[in-house]
Amino acid sequence: MEDNKFHTIKFENNVIKMIDQRKLPKKEEYFICKNYEHVIFAIKEMVIRGAPAIGVAAGFGIALFCIQSKSKDVIINNFEKICKEFAKSRPTAVNLFWAIKRMKKKFEATKAQSLAEIQDTLLSEATNIYNEDILTNRLIGEHGNKIISKKSKRCNILTHCNAGALATAGYGTALGVIRTAHDSGKNIHVFVDETRPFLQGARLTAWELMKEKIPCTLICDNMAGFLMNKNIIDVIVVGADRIAANGDTANKIGTYSLSVLAKENNVPFYVAAPISTFDMTIKNGKEIPIEERSGKEITHIFSEQISPDNIQTFNPAFDVTPNRNITGIITEKGIITEPFQENIRSVINVD
Ligand code: MRU
Repeated sequence: MEDNKFHTIKFENNVIKMIDQRKLPKKEEYFICKNYEHVIFAIKEMVIRGAPAIGVAAGFGIALFCIQSKSKDVIINNFEKICKEFAKSRPTAVNLFWAIKRMKKKFEATKAQSLAEIQDTLLSEATNIYNEDILTNRLIGEHGNKIISKKSKRCNILTHCNAGALATAGYGTALGVIRTAHDSGKNIHVFVDETRPFLQGARLTAWELMKEKIPCTLICDNMAGFLMNKNIIDVIVVGADRIAANGDTANKIGTYSLSVLAKENNVPFYVAAPISTFDMTIKNGKEIPIEERSGKEITHIFSEQISPDNIQTFNPAFDVTPNRNITGIITEKGIITEPFQENIRSVINVD
């Protein structure tokens, strides 16, 4: 068990257990995936969400399919099809495609071997993706701690959505920075955007921070500008779902508006993300596919309808923050700043 005392995801006794994020914070229930189809369902329905976490889920889901296959032929004849099914589960977070690519590469390298060897290799690759993610987040936390003001001064940090342990294998990216700052004794206070419509801030980030007694205050999304204008926010740290080669960053809807407000009010705006979130195949943010989700997430809060029958809706789940609004991108290899295109290229090996 990692230090947050719950498991976002765990492979155990040939099933995959995930804390059911649809039910938090009211209930801490685990959703059990007994086959790979259950994992795809869990990603689509947001049982598990957050860019690195869905990559980890896909890795374990593909491994589970291999483990449950009775012969090599079943794996060989279906591997590509199953990877495609995972790739269709959510479109924006590139970590999903990155993890599928890693699993495919391992499969290609091992497919001439015995059934048991294929199964072992793929499960250990999925486990590597999981373990590496936690280590990566710890490094992001260490690098990110440098942007949080010294112990003597209180630092008010604003975050959006949930880029925490729940969105990763553990520890978190933006919340990894916050956890490290808190654990190193810094005097921090976190302002948590509720993050309509799915309420990842109000339900998940608030839950994670409260669990660890990290001082925090929940606000509605449309209050962030007011706080910045009153000089209450010292720094903003958010996660990312996909970062283009020039640093343009897709993250939860509302992140772009925050970045504009941050610029207007001279508040430093940081993105915290692992290298696996960079998509070097796309030049800029215009090429990032943006998921559209059901309008029911807008017209309803949980099962309660809050708007008139048959109202038209539009529900883009992500937006793109242009690199010009970003102060720095905190990665496991350090903090990348302007000029983003050159500096990203020097940090990331393009294969
Ligand atoms: O729709 P979600 O909840 O999967 O969106 C999650 C986010 O936008 C996170 O900020 C992002 O994935 C980074 S998670 C470390």
